[in-house]
Amino acid sequence: MSEIQSPAGPLSSLRLEERLRDTRLFFSQALRTFHATGSILPSSAALAHSMAEYVRSRPVPDKPVRILEAGAGTGAISRGIAAAMIPGDTLDLVESNPEFAAHVEELLRSDPAMSPVADSATVHAKLVNDMGRDRRYDVIVSGLPFANFTADAVRDILDYYFEVLEPGGTLSFYGYLYTKEVKAVIARREDYLRQARTSWLVQDWIDRYGIRSDKVFANVPPAWVHHLRKPGKTG
Ligand SMILES: C[S@@+](CC[C@H](N)C(=O)[O-])C[C@H]1O[C@@H](n2cnc3c(N)ncnc32)[C@H](O)[C@@H]1O
Repeated sequence: MSEIQSPAGPLSSLRLEERLRDTRLFFSQALRTFHATGSILPSSAALAHSMAEYVRSRPVPDKPVRILEAGAGTGAISRGIAAAMIPGDTLDLVESNPEFAAHVEELLRSDPAMSPVADSATVHAKLVNDMGRDRRYDVIVSGLPFANFTADAVRDILDYYFEVLEPGGTLSFYGYLYTKEVKAVIARREDYLRQARTSWLVQDWIDRYGIRSDKVFANVPPAWVHHLRKPGKTG
């Protein structure tokens, strides 16, 4: 396990104007749909960098990979993925909130970090498990707020990820630090128990398939990034 403290690379130069625009949109949608959005601020460049780890360190150097990002939001993590992509990679950006999906489409046209991968990227305005089971990916990056979901809903999503992931492929996702402790103090009992069940389920997947976990302090709130590998040989 390691700790990541600061952003790196071209993401740190994201213009203030773009950050403010993304933050305003994110915050306004979080007020309307907190259950699905899961936080009030977009992820930081440091978290994006960590989430894109297995796009950078691909199993076979220079071999293109098929990438799925679930829950693209305002594109904070998508930018980290785009920065790590090489020619031949493909990227499916899935986002259930139509306002966010339209925003990501616009980023592919106009954002300096996203437009270079526009020809290889497709935005899907839908729930990730409605994407269909006939797809295959080498890398899945999930920004979904598991802590807000029931254990059954998270199990369905994790099962879906591992079904469409190639053997040897990786799944990266994050969760905020201290969520359980905060909920123990402020949440109603049934919400605390729901979240405890979800977090046991997620921990079980990490125990079975985890290959690496990193703490990212340079994010509000600080986060754990977990990387899991589907058993089997990389093609
Ligand atoms: C915590 S936000 C992360 C946004 C962005 N990736 C970031 O890190 O700033 C979670 C995002 O997942 C989307 N979302 C929630 N459930 C989803 C689902 N089942 N399928 C696709 N997107 C979903 C929400 O609309 C929201 O944009």
